[in-house]
Amino acid sequence: MTTYRIPQHGQGSGVTEEDLAAVTAVLTSGGHLSDGAEVARFEEEFARRTGAAHAVAVSSCTMALELATRVLELEPGDEVVTTPLTFQATAAPLLGRDVTVRFADIDATTLCLDPASVADALTPRTRAVFTTHYGGLCGGVEELRALTERAGVALVEDCAHAIGASAGGRSAGTWGDIGCWSFHSLKNISTLGQGGMLTVRDAGVADRLRALRAINPDAEFVRRGKPLEFGRYGTGTPPRPVTHEKNAYTHDCARIRSGGLNAQLADPAAAMGRSQLRRLDSLIARRHAVAERLDAGLRELGVQVLETPEGYAHAHHLYAFLLRDEEIDRDELVRDLEREGIEVVLRYFPVHLLPEWRRRGGVFGSVPVAEDVWFRRLVNLPLSPQLGLHDADYVVEAVGRALARQRVEAVA
Ligand SMILES: Cc1ncc(COP(=O)(O)O)c(C=O)c1O
Repeated sequence: MTTYRIPQHGQGSGVTEEDLAAVTAVLTSGGHLSDGAEVARFEEEFARRTGAAHAVAVSSCTMALELATRVLELEPGDEVVTTPLTFQATAAPLLGRDVTVRFADIDATTLCLDPASVADALTPRTRAVFTTHYGGLCGGVEELRALTERAGVALVEDCAHAIGASAGGRSAGTWGDIGCWSFHSLKNISTLGQGGMLTVRDAGVADRLRALRAINPDAEFVRRGKPLEFGRYGTGTPPRPVTHEKNAYTHDCARIRSGGLNAQLADPAAAMGRSQLRRLDSLIARRHAVAERLDAGLRELGVQVLETPEGYAHAHHLYAFLLRDEEIDRDELVRDLEREGIEVVLRYFPVHLLPEWRRRGGVFGSVPVAEDVWFRRLVNLPLSPQLGLHDADYVVEAVGRALARQRVEAVA
């Protein structure tokens, strides 16, 4: 395993004594470690922090996206518009469904969906737009909200990178109908390595999500007329009252839509989430300081820094810049940075070109801005609260050396 001088830290938030104490308190309480009070408290605090009407905790953002897709109740022939520059989980729940997915292009100044391209991709069959707040910037979200409202389609925000991000003073995950959040180990805060949240406006949707995330089947139960008789189950020895849930003696199951997903967040994980949420601002402030230093140094080198638009708060989950110079070979530059001990993880290979999406018609050339960014211009650098300003300076110097080497070779 390579040891990097500037690694991509595996823990995006680190662990403090307070985190350990919060988790230990739950573990040693003797109480239930699932379905307990910590999850409800975490949901309340997350909703308060983001200004969301409702928050529903789940086991990952992948699961949040799956549940968001389920509540949309998409039907064969429906269409969804999404971004190619995202982790594959954003569009994955759409793969197994008989719907058409249209990849719109991105805006090269934000790396998020370009609202104009989304507008072009909408058709009378469009039911939803799935956007990703790439790197922690909710680029274009105000326009996307206006656009989707006008078109009468749902807006789903993939907020995996966006804990702490806002636009116009309003948090990510509250612009659309549903926000999907991640507390994976790398993210700005984590719930013991895995975890997720959904934020929603509508109380009915929140109830439906709670039903879907449960261990019980997603089913309709009807109250039985005579609760203590077993009716159609017979009158012999009563079955153990665990058939589906506690209502096995009082209700009949009229229709099962699917088995229970059991996608809940465990209580010790929620306790960790609550503790980390309390220090979110200081975690982001540290990320911000490093990002600002990188921005300042890289501007001097003549590359394209991604400027945060006026009125937006960046959550600085990922750091990215773009090459403008046609002569610079991005892959060679990345190899130079790796040789200098800087871990570079490029994010993300365009989703429409992944094999599973190519099989469904994804072709090169359909989203030229995203493809140009990915194949030629994008460079991601490590960014985490563990890094200091001197690390940022080292990285900028290494980028400067790598650019200079190529520029000199081009002249020679
Ligand atoms: C944009 C995006 N969406 C979704 C996910 C999935 O999150 P999780 O690991 O919580 O399932 C990730 C994870 O890295 C992500 O970066």
